[in-house]
Amino acid sequence: MNMKYSNKTYEDILNWLDTNLTQDRYIHTLGTVDTAVMLAERFNLDVDKARIGALLHDCAKCFSADKLRQILNDTNIVIEDSELVNYKTLHAPVSAFIAENDFGVTDPEILSSIRWHTLGRVKMSDLEKIVFLADKIEGKTRDEDYRAMILKILDTQGIDKAMLECMRTTIKSLIDRNLKICNQTIDVYNRFLDS
Ligand SMILES: [Fe+2]
Ligand SMILES: [Fe+2]
Repeated sequence: MNMKYSNKTYEDILNWLDTNLTQDRYIHTLGTVDTAVMLAERFNLDVDKARIGALLHDCAKCFSADKLRQILNDTNIVIEDSELVNYKTLHAPVSAFIAENDFGVTDPEILSSIRWHTLGRVKMSDLEKIVFLADKIEGKTRDEDYRAMILKILDTQGIDKAMLECMRTTIKSLIDRNLKICNQTIDVYNRFLDS
């Protein structure tokens, strides 16, 4: 299947992901695609954009630390201070870079949906929110009760309240695990608290 927003076919991208992701991450990616497409349909967003954003959101997730560092050194990808707090968040900017560089994605909104899928940001488009949420609640590897709760909020209160609940859960979980909370996470939480 040709993709509207990539120079590669859907099958080519799946093959690349199958080679470059662990089995779990690959299944999580397929789940994220299903949920992002479903949400895009429900909220009248561009389904093709949601599909490719979700498909590539974690494409660099299984790169080694050395490879991530090398790509960051060799390119002028801008990294937030917040992303240096937790090394795992670096896969998001690198995934956006790979989406553009290796898969010919040029649409800025798709690239931002990949770029900001872990941290979120204060000014998010609905497409960015949908990919963010789909990543957290996809139906193949994420917790079923959590998925049901967020889907219910999406149905009854809309996208921003679902984002608020996701940010709340993230912050609670960081506190419970004794991990640092980066400033951007707090800013995004505060922004959705006002929604
Ligand atoms: Fe991710
Ligand atoms: Fe993910």
